[in-house]
Amino acid sequence: MKPTLAALSLAAITAASTLVTGTASAADDPIVIKFSHVVAENTPKGQMALKLQELVEERMGDRVVVEVYPNSQLFGDDKVLEAMQLGDVQLAAPALSKFGRYTKKLALFDLPFLFEDLDAVDRFQQSEAGQELLTSMEKKGLIGLGYLHSGLKQFSSNEPLRVPEDAAGMKFRIMSSEVLEAQFKAVDATPLKKPFSEVFTLLQTKAIDGQESPWSNTYTKKFFEVQPYITESNHGLLDYMVVTSAEFWNGLPDDLRAELKAAIDEAVTYGNQVARDKDLDYRQKIVDSGRTEIITLTPEERAQWLQAMKPVWEEFEDEIGAELIDAAYASNRGN
Ligand code: SIN
Repeated sequence: MKPTLAALSLAAITAASTLVTGTASAADDPIVIKFSHVVAENTPKGQMALKLQELVEERMGDRVVVEVYPNSQLFGDDKVLEAMQLGDVQLAAPALSKFGRYTKKLALFDLPFLFEDLDAVDRFQQSEAGQELLTSMEKKGLIGLGYLHSGLKQFSSNEPLRVPEDAAGMKFRIMSSEVLEAQFKAVDATPLKKPFSEVFTLLQTKAIDGQESPWSNTYTKKFFEVQPYITESNHGLLDYMVVTSAEFWNGLPDDLRAELKAAIDEAVTYGNQVARDKDLDYRQKIVDSGRTEIITLTPEERAQWLQAMKPVWEEFEDEIGAELIDAAYASNRGN
């Protein structure tokens, strides 16, 4: 029987996708790993991805090639996990706020004022409870390979924000997280879920009044150029999970998987070091630009934000789990 046109084009599509996905087209061809992310190359995540590419080339270049696609070139965070499940991308490191469709547990990391600093975040992420979260999406076909830091977030806006009442009525861009939505509603602001790639234009055109990001994203994506005020609030965390698809990962030969995991661990350690070492550099570059005023909160003012936003913890306690919240909070030194 002659193959139909539809069957022929399906075969052509399958052959083409075999060439570009994690599966090698012939036994000797290297496996291509596409690493898609949304931030600039000179950020902790951008640097981690490039370090991984370098390590893989050095150590297993004849067997594996990592292709890095920064700045939402390949996929935005709204599409990347679906693309991963379809085998169109093999590695990504979306913000922990962007896994809501796959697990409610990771919303933990969005709770405002949960972690005092990155040391506390590390202690929790390396604990048994933190490590268990890496496998919380396995049934959905996603495996977490490690946590990566970006940093603590600051608010930026068109008007000075000192106390929660200042945010009332303002529109803030948020990542796709229900906790972040509740966080802004708690101060009578309007949260809008928008892709990262659209934030600069939304701010520039004043379609929104403000946003929240760590210094690295505010600097590298130039948000500070279109936001006259940044409030040094350190009110929340932007961290990532390096993820892959279970199908791809489990399909790798055992020795290669182990070598790749070691390279990923090393690249993550490097990225985390960049996050720590460069945080204040990004801040300083923003100060030096003279484009925006950085507002430092008094302890009393910061306490008001905490008081206004803390009820969000209770709102999500059932979904996230009280024990998990307690364990994360206990990772702060004073507890
Ligand atoms: C990222 O750092 O990957 C993007 C964070 C955001 O969407 O704000």
